[in-house]
Amino acid sequence: MSRNSFPEGFLWGGATAANQVEGAYQEGGKGLNLADVLPGGQARLRLLTEPGFDFEMDRDTYRYPNHEAIDFYHRYKEDIALFAEMGFNVYRMSIAWSRIFPNGDEEEPNKEGLAFYDRVFDELHKHGIEPLVTISHYETPLHLIKEYGGWKNRKLVDFFERYVMVLFNRYKNKVKYWLTFNEINGAVHFPLFGLGFSATSEETRLQESFQGLHHQFVASARAVQLGHDIIPDSRIGCMLLYAPTYAYDSNPENVMHALDEGRIFNFLCGDVQIRGEYPGYSRRYFEENGIDIDMEEGDLETIAEGTVDFISLSYYMSKTEKKEKSEEELSSGNLLQGVKNPFLAASDWGWEIDPTGLRIALNELYDRYQLPLMVVENGLGAYDKLEDDGSIQDDYRIEYLKNHIQAMREAVEDGVDLIGYTAWGCIDLVSASSGQYAKRYGFIYVDKHDDGSGTLERRRKKSFYWYQEVIRTNGANL
Ligand code: BG6
Repeated sequence: MSRNSFPEGFLWGGATAANQVEGAYQEGGKGLNLADVLPGGQARLRLLTEPGFDFEMDRDTYRYPNHEAIDFYHRYKEDIALFAEMGFNVYRMSIAWSRIFPNGDEEEPNKEGLAFYDRVFDELHKHGIEPLVTISHYETPLHLIKEYGGWKNRKLVDFFERYVMVLFNRYKNKVKYWLTFNEINGAVHFPLFGLGFSATSEETRLQESFQGLHHQFVASARAVQLGHDIIPDSRIGCMLLYAPTYAYDSNPENVMHALDEGRIFNFLCGDVQIRGEYPGYSRRYFEENGIDIDMEEGDLETIAEGTVDFISLSYYMSKTEKKEKSEEELSSGNLLQGVKNPFLAASDWGWEIDPTGLRIALNELYDRYQLPLMVVENGLGAYDKLEDDGSIQDDYRIEYLKNHIQAMREAVEDGVDLIGYTAWGCIDLVSASSGQYAKRYGFIYVDKHDDGSGTLERRRKKSFYWYQEVIRTNGANL
């Protein structure tokens, strides 16, 4: 490997999630899932954090963009051909649980749903693209949410097991790379997405979230064990929302506070899924916050025996912490709200841009766990302009990605075992936190807008050709 490029066999590609691209929300026997009842626009952001969301649609007041999304369900061939044209050798996607089990608690899977993903995997392999599949990406079947209360309920561990058994058996010759739960630690702050419930009250939020997380830890560990049995050469990873946490200044109180916040958010879930046990510091944290997890006999053994093979992470921003902070100091638009970092600029949505933070993240994770790492989400959500000549000159996106890939290259030089990179939203899609089309991440522009208009036509942006060259040169030519 030359100093400027990435290790041989490096996985280059892009990432999406079923609910943000597929659409066809009632086709092929699919049942409703969480994303189907999340409204588009600013209302969604509020719902993520406030207690008491009722999971009913209100079509008079809101649009539901995930219903149509970008119609990948019908256009996957065209989209995969474009991914191949960029040179992808990996594509991260998720399976919509409610396409396989429409309600989530059936005995038998939906054949049409299974057949759809067969077609997608076959198409990927036809182009030499390896699928990397997230088993659960913010799309718990709605029935499991309404009838069972989402992941608060222990029964979901069994429903999930049935679901993964079906996936592993069906796709054992087509999919080798799997991730269990997307951004599992996101639930520490906002349970709605990952755990499929909104807290009963702010006072009970942590108790409910960690109970739900415990169920997911057990479910994930069982999935890892089953996966290894059913697909011996499979590699099953965890997926962390990673935000390196800086102290605002050298005041030891702020440094301690940053360390505390950072390890609860960044490391606790990883420690359980990667090392196979609840870490020592979690005991004190649980005690001080009145968190008392209900565990079944054998859970800790299951967790110990189901540790993951690699670590994947999303990286969008770092977080800066201060023990005492005022409203004015808070960073905006950032669900992981810390204080503003005076050294960083932010995106139009207030997400602070920090490429060095990615190098720090990779070093922190590798120092701690010594397992292969994959960056499975990273990108810039931005407003794009379609020029009169039909081009999209997204130099800001190129600049962002270039700096982040450069930071990964530094991390590799630091000795980190980095095996792949899948840029988030490689094709424009529906934003998860704000339910917008206008917040675009793609190399491929999709003609679709927040008022519901648009032809869904695909167009190559300037960044499409740039990323194609990055992949062609294995990262040497940024
Ligand atoms: C991650 C999610 O949190 O960030 C994705 O795994 C999401 O689903 C991505 O789309 C970007 O966030 P947003 O809110 O800009 O779509």
